[in-house]
Amino acid sequence: MAGTSLLAAACKRLEGKVALITGGASGIGECTAKLFSNHGAKVVIADIQNKLGQSLSQKLGSSDCTYVQCDVTNEDLIRDAVDKTIQSYGKLDIMFNNAGIVDDPSYPSILDTEKAKFERIMGVNVTGVFLGMKHAARVMIPARSGCIISTASIASGIGGSAPHAYTCSKHAVVGLTRNLAVELGKYGIRVNCLSPYTVETPLSTSFVGLTGAEFEHSVGLKSNLKGITLRADDVAKAALYLASDDGQCVSGQNLFIDGGQTIFNSACNMFS
Ligand SMILES: NC(=O)c1ccc[n+]([C@@H]2O[C@H](COP(=O)([O-])OP(=O)(O)OC[C@H]3O[C@@H](n4cnc5c(N)ncnc54)[C@H](O)[C@@H]3O)[C@@H](O)[C@H]2O)c1
Repeated sequence: MAGTSLLAAACKRLEGKVALITGGASGIGECTAKLFSNHGAKVVIADIQNKLGQSLSQKLGSSDCTYVQCDVTNEDLIRDAVDKTIQSYGKLDIMFNNAGIVDDPSYPSILDTEKAKFERIMGVNVTGVFLGMKHAARVMIPARSGCIISTASIASGIGGSAPHAYTCSKHAVVGLTRNLAVELGKYGIRVNCLSPYTVETPLSTSFVGLTGAEFEHSVGLKSNLKGITLRADDVAKAALYLASDDGQCVSGQNLFIDGGQTIFNSACNMFS
């Protein structure tokens, strides 16, 4: 019995760590909040969906998880979310800039892409990540440790997989990640991002216009790696790897969780 509990403790890869997750009320963020909590982390969920965020934090336990209302485009609210994390749990080890939105599923031509809509996507997906990085760095630099992860997308590495604003925003997340990994390396702070292929979440189902088996079938038809369906949990596990000591030498990377989707060009595929 004692052996079993020792093993369980050893399996908790984030014991004693504190994480702040933006967009943590739903989808990939929700899944990551649950996984981080299962691995012993204290978790702060920052989102604009109050009901979902509060209900998740209650499920994870009020002493181990806190919900804060936070629109990531508002610097005061991001600053407050980071400060509340420090007040509640004493430090910030892991910042997961995951909140994001998609734009028009009709893939408008550049000629029909409205400036206001373009700026809205950039506001959440780029400015939101920038602000999360900035305020995480503010408290991580004095601590001389920390790990910053952001959610990009396969659209960070290829053209044509998403509308202009979304593709642009996710390329920008990689740029911020690389620049910050260089700036913060001297403080022992690691900075990485994750680039998933399509996984079923409220964001992707509303964009694709399908759910459940139909969604899975449609996405599976286009995927390179057959026989497996990418799920939010797979992205959460990649975040866990980067956040834990297992990823202690990894910084400045864009980790694709896409079953090889982005490394081949179907026009040059000799194996089909
Ligand atoms: N689902 C996919 O197929 C997929 C693929 C690649 C990348 N991504 C990225 O993953 C991230 C998470 O998306 P998801 O698929 O889990 O979608 P989701 O809609 O389930 O979750 C996104 C969360 O972000 C929150 N959010 C949106 N705007 C916000 C704001 N201004 N401030 C704070 N929170 C805000 C939403 O309320 C929501 O809880 C996004 O950055 C998205 O671009 C998703």
